[in-house]
Amino acid sequence: MTMPNHKTEPVTIPSLQKKKEKNEKIVALTAYDFPTARIVDEAGIDLVLVGDSLGMVVLGYENTIPVTMEEMIHHTKPVVRATEKALVVGDMPYFSYHLSQQESILNASRFLKEGGAKAVKIEGASEKRLKLIEILVEADIPVMGHIGLTPQSIHHLGQYRVRGKAVEEAENIIEEARKLEQAGVFSVVLECIPDQVAHTITKMLKIPTIGIGAGPGCDGQIIVFHDLVGLSDGHLPKFVKSYLDLHGLILQALREYGQEVREGRFPDESHSYHLKPNVLRSLSQKKSRE
Ligand code: KIV
Repeated sequence: MTMPNHKTEPVTIPSLQKKKEKNEKIVALTAYDFPTARIVDEAGIDLVLVGDSLGMVVLGYENTIPVTMEEMIHHTKPVVRATEKALVVGDMPYFSYHLSQQESILNASRFLKEGGAKAVKIEGASEKRLKLIEILVEADIPVMGHIGLTPQSIHHLGQYRVRGKAVEEAENIIEEARKLEQAGVFSVVLECIPDQVAHTITKMLKIPTIGIGAGPGCDGQIIVFHDLVGLSDGHLPKFVKSYLDLHGLILQALREYGQEVREGRFPDESHSYHLKPNVLRSLSQKKSRE
């Protein structure tokens, strides 16, 4: 087993491209705050996405629709501060790139200028979206595409389900991937599509594909941090693998803390500050003279 080399150079878009060419897998993960981003970076993860999944896993919204630009920038900053090596990508939230081109470009640039991210991610591949991606790339804002299940279209799609199971839908997704590459994205997220479709796209494209629920044939994989460590609420999709029950571990620690406080066992001697004996003596002498 080879261990990640923490002393190596920061991950860049060209270095991700090289990984694809050398057939090396890209490891990606989401992060939304300083302490978790620090661990993610230390673990040798290549790409950190400040995903708009923030809305559900951190802010308690029902879906990603309510997430704002201010919230995304607020969370991108600490992730960037915590990251020495991984490439940080900011996820453009719903309605931050849907109105005028000018507003979309300004919002994308905020991720780089204010947030400190190196790139942005945009869902979808409509003609209008492709045109916008071309313009962003032209303005030196690297863009990651995202097709298959696009959570910002939840009301349009009706439900979170695997996309591309029928011939026409699969063909559309393959075509979208091709157009995204042509528009200049440096990578594309393939979410919740059959593994054969993802494999076909991965073979067809020169740029790396990053899968989530898209099987092992992609150039890399991404997963939501809170799902991976067992900190997410409710039902998890089939493609999620939790490597840890952090919810259970935290709950156990909190219950222990509560019990020790209630029983007067915390804080004990070792977690308290003490006066030096001479200070204590003069204090009690003063008290007795009063
Ligand atoms: O918002 C997010 O976390 C994402 C990933 C699941 C790709 O878009």
